[in-house]
Amino acid sequence: MINSQFLVYFLFFLLILIIIFLPFYFLFTINIIIMAGHDLPTSQKAIKKIIKIIKKRKYEKANFYDLGCGRGDVVFAIKKNFPDFSVQGIEKRSLQIFFTKFRNFFLRRDIIFQKNDLFEISLEKADIIYTYLRYDLMPEIEKKLKNELKKGVLVITNTTSFPNWQPEEIHIVHPKQPNFEKLFVYIKK
Ligand SMILES: C[S@@+](CC[C@H](N)C(=O)[O-])C[C@H]1O[C@@H](n2cnc3c(N)ncnc32)[C@H](O)[C@@H]1O
Repeated sequence: MINSQFLVYFLFFLLILIIIFLPFYFLFTINIIIMAGHDLPTSQKAIKKIIKIIKKRKYEKANFYDLGCGRGDVVFAIKKNFPDFSVQGIEKRSLQIFFTKFRNFFLRRDIIFQKNDLFEISLEKADIIYTYLRYDLMPEIEKKLKNELKKGVLVITNTTSFPNWQPEEIHIVHPKQPNFEKLFVYIKK
């Protein structure tokens, strides 16, 4: 009797969650179609690789930034794998930032989300930077990172690379499509 009552409550709770989350996923799908692929989230395979790249460097604590965090898949995975990191997601679009804050509240992950243009924030305290952004933004971002980052900062870019800065490592995520989600690893000198 108690079990069947519990099951009803559980199914009701699940239904409420689905009702809350479905419109967001619908909006994101529409958004991705409208943006013609410019708004793709990092895949789980690439996230695993990014985590490996960071683990190799054995940080105890670090300030991690995803510049243009979208729906937050990367920052949530980073906080889960590195709970002692201070993790920040910067995103200029309201829908994305609303969704990430909502997700953060439910998952209790203690991630800092800022609705801002990435060119407007200071990166002086950053230890690790991640970006998955359009090609046309990369020259400007390269200038910003070279001016603001302290020595030794790890920068990982997905698919798009900097025009002048030479990467230390390149990682292929999908061997059958080597240019898709290729990861570029830089160290600020
Ligand atoms: C390809 S998505 C990547 C999302 C996330 N980083 C990930 O890997 O899953 C790029 C995101 O960067 C955001 N973006 C683009 N230019 C930006 C800017 N100048 N400031 C802040 N966010 C920006 C877009 O709105 C979009 O959500």
